[in-house]
Amino acid sequence: MTLSLNRILSSLEKSYPEAYAESWDNVGLLIGSPDQSISKVVVALDPVSKAFQFCAEQQAQLLITHHPLFLQNIKKLISPDIHNILSIAYQSQISLACLHTNVDKSPTGLNWYIANKLGMDSLAFIKSSHTIPEIWYGIVSVSDTTFPDFKEYCARILPEDVDSQALDERELSRHNVRLSPERTFLKYSGSRSLLMNFLNNISHYSDSLRFHCLDSLYHDLPRSYGIGLVGELSHPVPFEDFMTRVRSIFSETGDFRLVTPSRSPSPIQKIGVCSGSGGKLLSSLPGDTDLYITGDLNYHQALEAKEREIMVLDAGHYGTEILFLPLMASVLKKEFPSLEVIFYKGENPWIRN
Ligand SMILES: [Fe+2]
Repeated sequence: MTLSLNRILSSLEKSYPEAYAESWDNVGLLIGSPDQSISKVVVALDPVSKAFQFCAEQQAQLLITHHPLFLQNIKKLISPDIHNILSIAYQSQISLACLHTNVDKSPTGLNWYIANKLGMDSLAFIKSSHTIPEIWYGIVSVSDTTFPDFKEYCARILPEDVDSQALDERELSRHNVRLSPERTFLKYSGSRSLLMNFLNNISHYSDSLRFHCLDSLYHDLPRSYGIGLVGELSHPVPFEDFMTRVRSIFSETGDFRLVTPSRSPSPIQKIGVCSGSGGKLLSSLPGDTDLYITGDLNYHQALEAKEREIMVLDAGHYGTEILFLPLMASVLKKEFPSLEVIFYKGENPWIRN
């Protein structure tokens, strides 16, 4: 089975909208063409040359990684590493898509995946981002012969808070709409009630205007997103028993580092989780958190945890984020059961010595 790359990206956008990503981040399609046909996907943590090489060997057309290839605006490509990566991508026709902080901050993202594995309930973001307004959209196609009348009519009835935009070929393909000759496509977006009311108004003239609304294209984004999750186990679990659960989930972690409070560890019930480097969230954790699981804690953050009597388990940047692979596989397989999805686990750059 082959799918267009755009279809895969549109599906991922529903759960992990680019709008969730931090402003400094670089997510979405970084290398490739949206209309490429995809039958095999490799999911990896990092866009390193070995991951591209693996894609080429496996004849996969798409590499999905958590970390982006570029973060800054690139003006020159003179790094041998990047040159090597781009050469492999170009020669083997491999596209690269990156889902980074949009996955970290999604209500069904990496922290949610880990929290579920740990058995946490009553989840709340450690640090909520601004709630984005619920936005709905509808796509309308109008025959070119009736378009001038339609435009005039819409100008009179279009509510101030509903936006309209003409759609080009790329946008249409993003929404799985085929370009049709002699028709103009427009996208209307706004709050659900305003938009539905407006679409109903224009549908009243559908016979004369020959347009149709594609209901399946309406969707809303989860409105609340943020970094890190805090939640509770259904009952307190003795620390050592809980560590057995932790070791089975973070099985790729070489070493666990622990900051312990001066008191002996209490049974674990309230837990904070932040994959990757979550040391900066320490100050936002509720004071009654029994255990905070993150990676990449630095010395000063460890001291801060000690000072606040919060027990922290550092399961490593690689150890916590390698779970991006099974998360992506489950999302892709659910939507596209016949798509082949394989992993490139790479390696934890830190070795035990
Ligand atoms: Fe990371």
